[in-house]
Amino acid sequence: MKDLEWTNEYLVGIPAVDLQHKQVFDCMKSIIGGPTDDDRLRAEAEVIKLLGLLQQHFALEESMMRTFSYPNSEKHIEEHRQFNADVHDLAQQSLRKKAGVSHEALRIAHKWLTEHIMTSDRDYAAFLSNSMHNGGNMKQGAK
Ligand SMILES: [Fe+2]
Ligand SMILES: [Fe+2]
Repeated sequence: MKDLEWTNEYLVGIPAVDLQHKQVFDCMKSIIGGPTDDDRLRAEAEVIKLLGLLQQHFALEESMMRTFSYPNSEKHIEEHRQFNADVHDLAQQSLRKKAGVSHEALRIAHKWLTEHIMTSDRDYAAFLSNSMHNGGNMKQGAK
């Protein structure tokens, strides 16, 4: 379970985004750490919660990328779409089979998310931070 813990290594420097990442991590950890068969309804409710958290999170990132005209936004949004589709499939499978949520599949999703934060999210966060910094300088210079 240690590999599922949130650590400050994953911070991208945008507080609202960091908070959402942590909430997603906590939700995944709670599903993976929970019982498999006997508490199926709880796990299913948590997967639905996870889908809601992801939807909110991706919407926030995508709107910030558009606001700042981030040049790699198309690729980034496609990564979100693919991940969202995978988690939807996972939720549907578990609801259809009535066999609980696959912890193995969620571990794979968790690993994907960690890599996404450490590469793609860091990249747009750095771009946003530079844009804000340069924008601030430009305004000062224009005085
Ligand atoms: Fe993210
Ligand atoms: Fe992202």
